[in-house]
Amino acid sequence: MSNPATAPQNIESSLVENRVFPPPADFAAKARLGHPADFDALYKLSVEHPDVFWAKEAAELQWTAPWSTVLEWNAPFAKWFVGGQLNVAANCLDRHLDARRDKPAIIWEGEPGDGRTLTYGELHAEVCRFANVLKSKGIAPGDRVILYLPLVPEAAVAMLACARIGAVHSVIFGGFSADSIKDRLADSGAKFIVTADGGWRRGKVVPLKANVDAALKDSNGAVTGVIVLQRTKNEVPMTAGRDTWWHDETAAASPDAPAESFDSEHPLFILYTSGSTGKPKGILHTSGGYLLGTYCSTKYVFDLRDDDIYWCTADVGWITGHSYVVYGPLANGATVFMYEGAPDTPAPDRWWDLIERHRITICYTAPTAIRAFIKWGDQHPAGHDLSSLRLLGTVGEPINPEAWMWFHEKIGGGRCPIVDTWWQTETGGHMITPLPGVTPTKPGTATRPFFGVDAAIVDDAGAEVGPNVGGKLVIRKPWPSMLRSIWGDEDRYVKTYWSEFGEKGYYFTGDGARRDADGYFWIVGRIDDVLNVAGHRLGTSEIESALVAHPAVAEAAVVGKPDEIKGQGVVAFVTVKGGQTPSKELADALKKHVGASIGAIARPDEIRFTDALPKTRSGKIMRRLLKEVASGQAVTGDTTTLEDLGILAKLQASED
Ligand code: WTA
Repeated sequence: MSNPATAPQNIESSLVENRVFPPPADFAAKARLGHPADFDALYKLSVEHPDVFWAKEAAELQWTAPWSTVLEWNAPFAKWFVGGQLNVAANCLDRHLDARRDKPAIIWEGEPGDGRTLTYGELHAEVCRFANVLKSKGIAPGDRVILYLPLVPEAAVAMLACARIGAVHSVIFGGFSADSIKDRLADSGAKFIVTADGGWRRGKVVPLKANVDAALKDSNGAVTGVIVLQRTKNEVPMTAGRDTWWHDETAAASPDAPAESFDSEHPLFILYTSGSTGKPKGILHTSGGYLLGTYCSTKYVFDLRDDDIYWCTADVGWITGHSYVVYGPLANGATVFMYEGAPDTPAPDRWWDLIERHRITICYTAPTAIRAFIKWGDQHPAGHDLSSLRLLGTVGEPINPEAWMWFHEKIGGGRCPIVDTWWQTETGGHMITPLPGVTPTKPGTATRPFFGVDAAIVDDAGAEVGPNVGGKLVIRKPWPSMLRSIWGDEDRYVKTYWSEFGEKGYYFTGDGARRDADGYFWIVGRIDDVLNVAGHRLGTSEIESALVAHPAVAEAAVVGKPDEIKGQGVVAFVTVKGGQTPSKELADALKKHVGASIGAIARPDEIRFTDALPKTRSGKIMRRLLKEVASGQAVTGDTTTLEDLGILAKLQASED
C-alpha cells in the first residue's frame, strides 16, 4: 500500500498504445449490432432509462409471474424484478426444448481423450433426474449444496439441478485443498456435497473424494450426504450411510421434474473469492438479475449464433465458468464445448487440436494461458487448422498488448475480433467490454462499458477525473447481475464495496484505471498493487506490459520494495521465452527498454529471472507473495490459493 500521507491522488499511466483494430466489415455485416450509432443509442437508453432497457431484455426470458418493479434500490441493497418469478434451470433448458431438443448443449472432451455429447433433450433429462435425487435426499429450497467436481458435464448438471429445486450451489474449484473445503463448508452451512472419485489433470488423478473425506473428518455432522461421481475409477472408500454413487442414485430417478417457480431474488449460488486479506468472501448471487445479466452479455458480447461451437476455457469453479460456461450460454440455447484437462496434455498443442477437431468458432480464455502458449512456441498453433474460429475473448487480468497481438495473429489469423472483457466475481457478468461488431479495439484495453454500466474513474474524494488521468474505477449505478451481499456478513459487504464512495452510492471495484480520450478504460491493476515510486503512483500492469513487449520475455510480474530514497523501488520478476537465456546483459537491456517505453521513473531497479511466477489457481499472479520475496521478508499470509507451492521456495532461494 502506498503511504496515504504522501501519495498523490492519481495513478500515473503513460504506456502508449496506438494500434486500433476496427471490427472486420464481414463480421459487422452479420452482427446483431453492427453500427456504432445503434450501439450508442441503445447504450444511452440503458443508462438513462435502465428500467426500460432491462425490462425489454428480461422479456426474452421465461417468467412464471410478472415483476411489478424493475429495480428497487435501497443503496447498497438492490432488488431486481421485484415480485417476478422464474426458474433459472427452466430458462436454460425447458425453454429451448421445442426448437433445440436435438441440438448439442454440451460437447465435452476428457483429458484422456474420451468424450460425450449431450443434446438439450438429454441435458434436460439428466438435470431432472439429479434434481429428483437431491430432493429425495431432503434438499429443500435455500439449502446450500457444495459441488466439488472435475470439469465434466455432470458439474453443469449438478448446478442446474440445484437451480431447478431452488437449492443454493457453492462450487469449489477442484484444485482447492481439504482445508479450503472445510472453511467453505463451515461458512456456507452446506449440508450436502457432490463430488467425484477424481478428475484428470496432466495424466494424474486429482483426489477429490479423498479431499472431501479429509474435510469431513472432524466435521460436526452437519453434512448429511455425499454423492460421488465415478470419473477416474480409482479406489475410494465410501462411508456407509453418508456416501452414495451418482450412477446408483440417478439410475432409478425419474427424468421428469416439474420446474417450480422461485422469486427473482431467490439465492442462486454462493461463490467464494479471496480478498487480499482475511478469509474468503462468499459472494452471493440471486436468480432473475444474474440470469438476465449473463444471458444478455453472452448474446451481445459473443454475438452468439445457433451454429456456434462456443468454448470458454474456464473451470466451473470460477465465476467465468458459472456465467460463461453454464448460465449465459445455455440461457441462449448455445452449444457449449468443455474440456476437462490441462492445455499441455498430452502435448502443448492440445487446445489447437481441440479447436481443429471440434470446429470451435468462439474461444474465450485468460491472458495467463496466452502467455504460457507464447512461451511454449508458435509451432504448436501453427500446426493446426484454426480457420473455424470467428471470435476470441479474454478475461481475468489486463492483457499485455503483445500477448493480445500474438492471440490476434497466431490464433485469430488476424481476422477474429478480440473481446477483452473486464468484470469480477462480484459483478456476475461483463461490465467493460467491446461489442465485436461495433467497437474498434486497441490491444490492452477492455474498451467501453457494457449496457447499463455507468463506470467512471474517480479520485480519492470520488470526483470524476479527466481523460488519461489515473484513478479508482467505480460503478455509479446498480446493475442486474451485481452481487447482493457477502454470505452471512452484510457488514463486510458494505465495508468492502461501499465504504470508499458509499455516500455517493458508488460501487468500488478495487481496481485502478484510466480512461483515454476515446473513453476507453485501461485497467492498471488492483489498487493494492499500485506502486509509489518517488511520489508517482504507477500501475504494475503497465510496466509488465512493457517488459512482455520485449522479444526475450514471456511473462513478468512487477512489485515494489522499500527504498529509502524513492519510497518504493521497482522489482520485476521475469520469465524468458524458450530459447532465451537470462543474463546480466539481458537484465540491463530490459531496464533500458522499460525506461524507453514508459519513462525513467518506471525503470526497474532490479530484474529477477525465474522459471515460473506464483499464481492463484485461476491464473492471477500473486504479487503479494512476490512483494514479500522482493523485500526479503518471510512470506506470511494465506498461500492456500497458490497453484504450485514449490515456486515460492525457488524464488526465495534465487534471492542473491
Ligand atoms: C481483473 C474474473 C483487466 C480485475 C471475471 C478484476 C481484469 C479482477 C480483466 C476480478 C480484464 C478481470 N482486464 N483486468 N479484462 N478481467 N480483471 O473476481 O483486477 O476472478 O477486479 O473475476 O480481475 O477477478 P475475478
